[in-house]
Amino acid sequence: MSNDEEIFFKWSPDYSVNIKTIDDQHKVLVDILNCLFVAVGKREGDKAIAGILEALMGYTQKHFTLEENLMRQAKYPELESHMEEHRKLIKELDILTKKYMLEDKPIYFEMLKFLKTWLRAHIQGVDKKYSTTLREAGFSVDAWEKEATAEFTAMSNSKKWWELWK
Ligand SMILES: [Fe+2]
Repeated sequence: MSNDEEIFFKWSPDYSVNIKTIDDQHKVLVDILNCLFVAVGKREGDKAIAGILEALMGYTQKHFTLEENLMRQAKYPELESHMEEHRKLIKELDILTKKYMLEDKPIYFEMLKFLKTWLRAHIQGVDKKYSTTLREAGFSVDAWEKEATAEFTAMSNSKKWWELWK
């Protein structure tokens, strides 16, 4: 990515929840969406796109699990409604992925637009709301972070798609 204007989803400091690990994970999700955008633009083909969708689903689930665990540990009162938002997105992502695989008509841009809008609104809406509670509770994300980073590295190395957008 040489030109800023070519970036589909640009990270902004406005999206920060003031918890580094969570911001880093959100940035990875943004990167995966950018990667999908590039792959679609370059007409990389079904295999590459399916690989990115798989990574997106896997990483999203990992990330949600972390958030939910931290909220649970912090006894965050809005845990249930937050989890419901996560469940809805996973369901929607599943529907969109299946639609992509079953239908000929390209739905990539519909999907990209939806995911970008969802992620931005979710981070700036409900994610920012847990920030104070989580920071006050204090927590350890070290173990999770190590595990998630190792898994993601393995996922990136095993697939060529990650190089596409760099
Ligand atoms: Fe969330």
